[in-house]
Amino acid sequence: MLRQYSLLDKCCLGFDQALRALTSQMQVTDKPYPAEKMPEAELNESEQKHAAALMRINHAGEICAQALYHGQALLSRSVEIQQKMQQAAIEEGDHLSWCQQRIEELGSHTSYLNPLWYSGSFCIGVLAGMIGDDWSLGFVVETERQVIRHLDGHLNILPSQDLRSYRILQQMEQDEAHHRDEALACGARELPTFIKAIMAMTAKVMVKASYWI
Ligand SMILES: [Fe+2]
Ligand SMILES: [Fe+2]
Repeated sequence: MLRQYSLLDKCCLGFDQALRALTSQMQVTDKPYPAEKMPEAELNESEQKHAAALMRINHAGEICAQALYHGQALLSRSVEIQQKMQQAAIEEGDHLSWCQQRIEELGSHTSYLNPLWYSGSFCIGVLAGMIGDDWSLGFVVETERQVIRHLDGHLNILPSQDLRSYRILQQMEQDEAHHRDEALACGARELPTFIKAIMAMTAKVMVKASYWI
């Protein structure tokens, strides 16, 4: 039987999930690290810095994804949608952990602004969840579409010899397409164009800042 959580339970769960995401203790699946079998690239200093900065952006994006799903799950009307959002958040946990591992391999750090990205995205997720499940699912679809376009861009600008990062982003792109399709199958509504434009602009701010900080 499914357990119904009280608002207090949900707040405690939300706080626990936020702490876990920001301290690399997030829930993950048992999927292996996609780059495991790929050779380490020979990169010069500026290529290595560039690859690390791109992976830092992707890590920050996954922090946002976790926060959005957590926020949306908190206010989902249906238990089924709530569970799907939580499951997607766990799969985003894989992405978070892969990006972090790759950043460490490249000798760099994750974004210092991650707590800010998490809190902002969590509030947006809660707002989307409040409006209703079909709109909330529509928000997932649009987010994943934008993430896929963004990942496509990064696959083109990564140093070509960095096959480890490339393989991680490829796997992430496949998983994001699955999240998009699941949300569509659950009855997502198409968001208005101006909302999509605001989402793209907000993402741009995160992308620009996370490259450097
Ligand atoms: Fe992701
Ligand atoms: Fe996703």
